[in-house]
Amino acid sequence: MRSRRDDFEVEPVAISWRTLNELLPYLLEYKRRVFLAMVCLVLAKMASVGLPFVLKYIVDDLDQEAGQLIAIPLGLLLAYGIVRFSNVLFSELRDTVFGRVTERAMRRIGLRVFEHLHALDLEFHLNRQTGGLSRDIERGVSGISFLMRFMVFNIVPTLLEIGMVTLLLLINYDVWFALITLVAVTVYIGFSVFATEWRTGFVREANRADSASNTRAIDSLMNFETVKYFGNEGYEAGQYDHALADWEMARRKNRLSLFALNGGQALIVSAAMTAMMVLAATKVQQGDMTIGDFVLVNAFMMQLFMPLNFLGFVYREMKGSLANIERMFLLLQRTPIVKDLPDAPVLRVTNGEIQFQDVGFGYQSNRTILDKFNFRVAPRKKVAVVGASGAGKSTLIKLLFRFYEVTSGRILIDGQDIREVSQQSLRQSIGIVPQDTVLFNSSIGENIRYGRIDATDEEVWEAVELAHLADFVTKLPKGLDTIVGERGLKLSGGEKQRVAIARTILKRPPIMVFDEATSSLDSKSEQAILSALDEVSSGHTSLVIAHRLSTVLDADTIIVMQSGAIIESGTHAELLDKQGVYSQLWQAQQKNEQ
Ligand SMILES: Nc1ncnc2c1ncn2[C@@H]1O[C@H](COP(=O)(O)OP(=O)(O)O)[C@@H](O)[C@H]1O
Ligand SMILES: [Mg+2]
Repeated sequence: MRSRRDDFEVEPVAISWRTLNELLPYLLEYKRRVFLAMVCLVLAKMASVGLPFVLKYIVDDLDQEAGQLIAIPLGLLLAYGIVRFSNVLFSELRDTVFGRVTERAMRRIGLRVFEHLHALDLEFHLNRQTGGLSRDIERGVSGISFLMRFMVFNIVPTLLEIGMVTLLLLINYDVWFALITLVAVTVYIGFSVFATEWRTGFVREANRADSASNTRAIDSLMNFETVKYFGNEGYEAGQYDHALADWEMARRKNRLSLFALNGGQALIVSAAMTAMMVLAATKVQQGDMTIGDFVLVNAFMMQLFMPLNFLGFVYREMKGSLANIERMFLLLQRTPIVKDLPDAPVLRVTNGEIQFQDVGFGYQSNRTILDKFNFRVAPRKKVAVVGASGAGKSTLIKLLFRFYEVTSGRILIDGQDIREVSQQSLRQSIGIVPQDTVLFNSSIGENIRYGRIDATDEEVWEAVELAHLADFVTKLPKGLDTIVGERGLKLSGGEKQRVAIARTILKRPPIMVFDEATSSLDSKSEQAILSALDEVSSGHTSLVIAHRLSTVLDADTIIVMQSGAIIESGTHAELLDKQGVYSQLWQAQQKNEQ
């Protein structure tokens, strides 16, 4: 079986019409605008096709025996200016009118992907690098913009122009002119597509070499300290130069193949132009055509091949864009594992009773973490879970939040299966201070307010005081407006935990969960916060996972977990009397604290 990651990274080879089809609804959101842009497009093209005709009449007028020309053809010259201007004007209008369509589509799709990513499960996010993900989205969205712009602004107009020019040549001149044009354009397009396909390998190799040398440089610079500690600057430079040498080589092949492409294109264009000119010159000599006609044919050809020059580039970019868009759409097709039932009702918390009934669970199918796990937190009581690291304590909380589905059994809150209520209402009812707190890169105040976005300043400050953050915050020059740095890295572990605690205090949910919430605090601050938390959570149901047993002495029930199973439970006094695992743990910790 291929891993999920693999099928995510397939590179589509052929242009997929299905992807284009999926884009259509976004294009059609502004039907009138699209129509207007098309009208501008046709008008611009008509002007550009009309230009050679005006030129022809001017040349024919000027083409008199010396001295015979009575007046300069002012009207025609004026018309030339007007037609030229309207060509540019309508092109600009088309861009302006259509821009809105592209941007709206980019906005819609960007939002859809963002919402979808938040709907996907934790497992997906754990398996993906956020950097790669945002690159995929960015590439996909800009791919859409490119595709739309070039479909409307390059491919369609060029095809339209080729059609118009061929038709006009056919109507006005010998059939050979139209024929040569058609053959030349066909050969040109065929050659461009073929040569571009052939070059794809070289281009990809150059890109790969480019990102390889980049990754190498970034990795090396990120490990700046390590490089210094070991004095390996020379080795690092050698490695980097190795990557650069690959890049140099790949670029060389890339450039040579580009030379072949451009050279071939120029050959086709020149051959066609020469054939047309020879034909036109012969006709002029025979008296079938005027000098003006000769100029017109020349102007037509120049006009046709100029946009065709971009074709190789556009074709390659379009393919790249389609691949990027498809990759993004693949992301959208991924369905979340945890889904609300249709019309799922909201969770109604009355007492806050939590029950795990015969719960079985494993992150992977081949490794069971919990098996027939039974456990109950009575309403408004405090239950503590203790046990060695890796016993499955945090897993209980992830299941309670429904980040994962249980494989068997069920979890009830006040008698309601958490799978049958909406995720939104479930998570609304539980507050958590997690084991590792990560913060948004904004101010301390905003991070705390995240607990309840509409809280007043007074409420935020009250939470700050309850979480024993007030001393720290008042010492900061900028107070609550201090920026915490990416993922909160500018705060110490203990400070981060207190921000998380303040957040949860602000939320004041009926059920509170603490996952080693005070593990980064020293004993003194821990005691202070614990009493504050007791105050806040009194009358609430609370589930406390603790490393230091001294913090849960007052729990109504203490559960000792080992390898996903409950091995002992009772109050602190009862467990000590048992002389089992708990009492051993307790004695060990007592010794350490002395
Ligand atoms: N996302 C995951 N994928 C696979 N295994 C995991 C995942 N999260 C935790 N585990 C494993 O599950 C077991 C229980 O983890 P956890 O509940 O975090 O333990 P703790 O009791 O220390 O909180 C550990 O062995 C851990 O390696
Ligand atoms: Mg844990």
